[in-house]
Amino acid sequence: MALRRRPVRKVVRDGGDEALSTGTDSQEKILADYGGRIMEGLREGEKNLKSISHYELVKELGEGGMGTVFLAHHVSEGGIRKEVAIKVLKDTTDAVAIGKFVEEAQLLAQLSQGTIVELLALESMEMNLPGHRDPRTGRTTGIKKSKLYFMVLEYVNGPGLDQVLKAHADTTLLMNPAMVGFILNKAVIALAEAHMLTDDHGRQLNLVHRDISPSNILFNKKAGITKLADFGVAKAFGGEAGVEKKLVGKPRYMAPEQLEGYANPASDIWALGVIGYEALTGFSPYRVFGKTTHDRVDNMRRQLEFELRAPKEVRKVEHDRFDFSQLSDIVMLCLHQSPSARPTSLELNSMLEGKYLYSKGLGPTNKTLSAYLKLLDYAIAGGEIIPPPDFGGGEDAKTLCATLWVEDPIDSFFDRRGSEYQDEFLLSAKNKEPNPCLKKKDGKAYSPPV
Ligand SMILES: Nc1ncnc2c1ncn2[C@@H]1O[C@H](COP(=O)(O)OP(=O)(O)OP(=O)(O)O)[C@@H](O)[C@H]1O
Ligand SMILES: [Mg+2]
Repeated sequence: MALRRRPVRKVVRDGGDEALSTGTDSQEKILADYGGRIMEGLREGEKNLKSISHYELVKELGEGGMGTVFLAHHVSEGGIRKEVAIKVLKDTTDAVAIGKFVEEAQLLAQLSQGTIVELLALESMEMNLPGHRDPRTGRTTGIKKSKLYFMVLEYVNGPGLDQVLKAHADTTLLMNPAMVGFILNKAVIALAEAHMLTDDHGRQLNLVHRDISPSNILFNKKAGITKLADFGVAKAFGGEAGVEKKLVGKPRYMAPEQLEGYANPASDIWALGVIGYEALTGFSPYRVFGKTTHDRVDNMRRQLEFELRAPKEVRKVEHDRFDFSQLSDIVMLCLHQSPSARPTSLELNSMLEGKYLYSKGLGPTNKTLSAYLKLLDYAIAGGEIIPPPDFGGGEDAKTLCATLWVEDPIDSFFDRRGSEYQDEFLLSAKNKEPNPCLKKKDGKAYSPPV
């Protein structure tokens, strides 16, 4: 009598959890051999799988302080195309900067909430780069063989906050305060995850973004998702901001201590405060005047001696179900000159949610943001508010009315500038004070030295 084979139980190791599967000995052997052969081949030969994919540049998206960003297609086997953003870094002959960046990127890879723009790869290419172009003659001087590093990033298909703010400015419309609070909250959730990151021994790593600004807050319009871009890039490729060195990033968003060369997590909170102030009022709280680094820092220091008007002393917000005065106070806390007096990212997150966005129940969601961004597209047409044809009865209008607690999204969605400002501020602005956001000191308005 033939012996009946008992099915063997095989342990398939699957990232720590042990899963059981059954099969015959011979099947097992083939499977095991296949995996074994691959591993053996890799061990013997190249160690790493060679990439069989490549990138095709589609168009330039923009240029920032550290590089130029392109929309590209990642084309893989069978022609599968995926949109990615490629940031070609400037001045990347600096091996130290690349090393620092890789270190930071490795840490950021541990973040799990999907709130920051994901780095998919860091690659390099040799290229014959044309030299400088003389604008007068149109001639290019020489060709230089260069090794260019580029980051392959998750592509965020929507506007940046810089474009959203520009659309508001172009149409002389101010942003809905609840949407400002919502975006700040999403950005600070991303910051909190990075600020709280610890090493294997539980020690806080104190990661700092250093370049929080509207163009580094990106939106996926369709899903209403907010993502923070360029984490760690300023640190690696810009160097520390400091008076002795060239100011990197955007001085307008730099905390006083960052302008002096000491950035810490609280400096990111200051930058969010500046963004919140600008989005709520349409005005920058501090102006960075001057051509030289020395002049700019000096001007900034002088402005810091003046008391800043709170957003509620600049803009009038009436009939707001969300407490504008609370949001104004929260933004002012972020703009405290002493870093230790500013809320931490976790505190800011809970203040925004608990005291402002959801203190009375239902508030904005990703869907609201998506509807807002879609409506903004129409609103900017020719500087007029032109709602889409079916807007009145559409889903987007319903979402905006329900979660922003407005009667009519078109009317209550934006405020027209001018009529919405507080009288004293308006007077300062009409008098063309260099910075109308500052209160007078000893009866005198701030004026930069000539
Ligand atoms: N991952 C991305 N997906 C889609 N668009 C992007 C992405 N990253 C950047 N962009 C776009 O490319 C433009 C240029 O980006 P870049 O980061 O180089 O400059 P920046 O954000 O203006 O300044 P900074 O140097 O401070 O980051 C941005 O305005 C943004 O709209
Ligand atoms: Mg950027």
